[in-house]
Formats: sequence, C-alpha cells, structure tokens
Amino acid sequence: MSKGKILGHISVRCPFEIATSATMTLNALDDRKSQALARILEKSSRIPNPRPDSSENDLKEPIWNEVFFNLQLSSFFQALSQEKKKAVLLRCSKGLLYESQMIELAGTTFAAKMALLSETLAERELYSLFAADEARHLRMISSIRGAPNSDPARENPFLQYLGNLILSEKKAPLVLLIQVVLEGWGISHYTRLAELSMNPSVSQVFQEILKDEAKHHGSGLVLFSEEQISESDRERLIEQLSHFLTMVRTGPFSVVQVLASETGGMSAEQVRLFLKETEFQKKLENDLELLHHLLLKSGAGRIVSGLHRSKLFELPSLDECSAQISAGLGICA
Ligand SMILES: [Fe+2]
Ligand SMILES: [Fe+2]
Repeated sequence: MSKGKILGHISVRCPFEIATSATMTLNALDDRKSQALARILEKSSRIPNPRPDSSENDLKEPIWNEVFFNLQLSSFFQALSQEKKKAVLLRCSKGLLYESQMIELAGTTFAAKMALLSETLAERELYSLFAADEARHLRMISSIRGAPNSDPARENPFLQYLGNLILSEKKAPLVLLIQVVLEGWGISHYTRLAELSMNPSVSQVFQEILKDEAKHHGSGLVLFSEEQISESDRERLIEQLSHFLTMVRTGPFSVVQVLASETGGMSAEQVRLFLKETEFQKKLENDLELLHHLLLKSGAGRIVSGLHRSKLFELPSLDECSAQISAGLGICA
C-alpha cells in the first residue's frame, strides 16, 4: 500500500504527519474522484490546481538573491564560481518556498483544530474563515512550486516543532504560540519574502498572504489572556517558547547547510567567519527584540519573566551561535 493510501486512511505514523502531510489529500481517491474533487477545489478557491507534473524542479532561477541571505557580505560565498553561486541561491530559494508551503499546510490543521475547540460562535466563525485563508495560501504557493511533499519536512526542526505544537497543545497556549508569536514573526518574514523576491508572481503571492496573516495575528492579540493560563500551562508555554528561541539562535542554519553541501563542507572556523561577516549577531538582536515585543504586546508579562530567568532574550556570543550551528551540521571544532 502506498504512503498516500496509508495517510488517506489516517493510519499515520506520527502526529507531525497529521499537521503537515499533504499526501493524505487526493492520493487516497481513485482517479475519477480525484479529478472531480480537484475541479471543485479550483472553482471554490479560484486558484488553479498545481499541474500534476509540476514540482520544485521546474524552478530554474533563484527567487531571492544574495542580498536576501546577506551573502554579498560573505567572503566564502563571494569566492565561489558564478555557477556555484547560482546553485546555492536556487537551493536556498527552494528551501524557503518549501518551508512556507508547509507552514501554510500546518495552518490549515491549526485553524481546523481551533474551530473545533471554539467556545463562542464568533470564535468558530473566525477560525473557519482562517482555515479557508490558510487553504488558499497553500494553493497559492503550490501554484508556484507544485503540490507539497512532506518527506523533507521530517529533516526540518522548525517544521517538526510546529507540527507537534499544533497537535499537542491546548487552545489558549496555541493562541499565544501560533497567532501571537509565530504569525507575528511570520509577518516580518513574509514582508521580506515579498519585498526582496525577484519573481513578480512570488511577490504578489506573499503580499496577498500578508494581508490575511495580519488579521490572524491581530485576532490572537485580542483573544489571548494570560489570566486564563493555568500555572502548569504557563510552565509548558515557557518550555515551548524556550525551544523556539533556541532555534532562532541558529538563524542561517539552512543557508550554511546548503553552502557546506554545495562546496564539499565547511570548517568550524569558516562557519564562524560566515556568521561574523554576514552580521548574524545584528539580525539575531533584532529578531529577539521583535519576539520580546510581540509577547509583551499580548500581555504575557509573566511568561516573558520566565524566559528572562533562563536568559533566552540575551544575545549569545558569536562563538556560541557558531558552535551550535556547527554541532547541528556535525562539524567538529
Ligand atoms: Fe497563512
Ligand atoms: Fe495564518
């Protein structure tokens, strides 16, 4: 039995797959039903179905240039041939597009769960509308890179984290984690993706998505109330946010991973120099400030105090960041 059929019958292997797997969709139906359903989806969403044979391999040119990744500042990148530079940028662009697609897919699961857990009609209406937004976002990105495939997501720590959060957390903690923090953070990430894309259709897609994400984040700020969070939920929230902040400290991990793989490897010293030249500390400082601001804006003061106790808003040294990224890539100092 194919993986699609297994997932189609909800015999999933791990919770992460329910949140982020798309192979459960059409694969489990016979061809005639799949095609009829695809036509209905196309008509309802007014977004064309991805061509069955389309995939990210159709992307031949990078969508984001070296400035997006700060690679114009890296002597390691600048020393590469034009051909290698293009290969790095193309892989990094595909990686960003893939991650966005899986985030939108996870968004459909999040909104559906929240609609079921809603305690008022207004909340149910809100999350049902959000589910439709997320399904449209997913289709918009799929129209660029083809239908999603969940396999590479298992190797992506952020997607693993997101999928597990959505499936394991209760409603009130999810409002803070997903709508306030991750969608708030997503607004600044998607703004850069839209502004710095070299492909006008991609810019348009992300600009369109951004309008909805602003609503999703804004409603999270309205709905979250720290008073409704129990002592044990607060402790767990602090743990979940600590995990996220630890990942934020490894910022350009996937870019370094692509660079190392395209060039036959990087030494720990080269990783350190890369972070220094591309001014990672400056970016990290801004990111930590943004996350701190988002949490305070939602009124999560006691949770912020808990995070301060573990010093996770303090800027780590270049050596610490570099050691963490190198360790993740299996590079010995
Ligand atoms: Fe979305
Ligand atoms: Fe959203």
